[in-house]
Amino acid sequence: MSSTDDIRITGDPILEEVCEPIDTIDDEVKALARSMLDTMYAAEGCGLAAPQVGVNKRLVVVDCEWGSGEKTPYVLINPEIVETSDELRTTGEGCLSFPGVTVQVERPRRVVVHATNLDGDVMRYEAEDSLLAVCLQHEIDHLDGKTLLDHLGPMARMRVKKQVREAIEAGAKPGDVAKPEKASKSKGK
Ligand code: NI
Repeated sequence: MSSTDDIRITGDPILEEVCEPIDTIDDEVKALARSMLDTMYAAEGCGLAAPQVGVNKRLVVVDCEWGSGEKTPYVLINPEIVETSDELRTTGEGCLSFPGVTVQVERPRRVVVHATNLDGDVMRYEAEDSLLAVCLQHEIDHLDGKTLLDHLGPMARMRVKKQVREAIEAGAKPGDVAKPEKASKSKGK
């Protein structure tokens, strides 16, 4: 299964739920991770969180390098941000649940994340001033029921909702992003 039609779009209530931790890495979790990676690659995204495919579990998949050719998938189970820089950085972000839209979001420049992989090992991910640094924070937001909208004021929020509606009406699919105004690179997450 790799249909991008399964991706939940903003307005779907599951995108606002806090996801449940994963206790056991069983076949179901492994199958979910595989299916999410298929969906992410099919949508040409660089990250995808379980609630975006309708599953209330703390699981995200990330690959911020495959645009350059090789696939380097990460599966993060129960990821936690353990460290962030005080210094912030603003970049244009897309989201597979927000077709046709890029939003300027300010986040810490550097982040350290601990997460369990599919083998049950706890891994440490450190990223600074990179797509990965943004993507990790963006995906973990999803597990806490937060989306791009939570980084906007009320007016911008309304504008973005309208942009998504119009983009979908115009035929935009998950993975389609607007041309970023400032950022050099922006993929759906
Ligand atoms: Ni997203």
